[in-house]
Amino acid sequence: MSLVFACGEHETELNRLGGPIPDFDAALPDGASDAAGDATSDADAGPAEFLPCDVAEVLKNKCQRCHLDPTENGAPFPLVSYSDTQADFFGSVVSDRIKNAVETDFMPATFIMLDPPVETLTADEKKVVLDWIAAGAQPVDTPCE
Ligand code: HEC
Repeated sequence: MSLVFACGEHETELNRLGGPIPDFDAALPDGASDAAGDATSDADAGPAEFLPCDVAEVLKNKCQRCHLDPTENGAPFPLVSYSDTQADFFGSVVSDRIKNAVETDFMPATFIMLDPPVETLTADEKKVVLDWIAAGAQPVDTPCE
């Protein structure tokens, strides 16, 4: 009699997980909640995210002389992976900082004297970067190369 009463106490919790709970399984509430936890973490694991090739190409050719991982010549962060462009930099997303820096020609950092000299962006390269950011700086699900 007391066993039936104990199962009744578990009923509310277990029924959230869906389906009728057989009496004997009610003795394993831990297993039941583990199953629910797994379902949640599966939903969190999204597809891998990559930079579109044309954007990756510009960053590689014109930015990674400094924005490498680890960085060179005093650059504050790497610009190598998609997640690099989504990082936080003093309260804003790096891609928003890129928009500003490229629009104003602050970047590439031609104020740094290197040999050979730091190259500016061509009009096409500028457009590739700014169009991508204007469209929401979206990732693609396959890497290039
Ligand atoms: C020659 C080295 C060099 C190159 C090439 C270069 N950067 Fe930088 N970048 C720096 C340095 C150094 C800073 C820090 C400048 C400062 O804050 O005074 C910086 C800062 C930045 C910042 C932060 C600006 C802010 O909001 O404070 C962004 C964004 C950025 N770079 C993007 C780029 C992009 C995009 C490219 C390529 C198109 C590029 N950089 C190429 C050296 C470089």
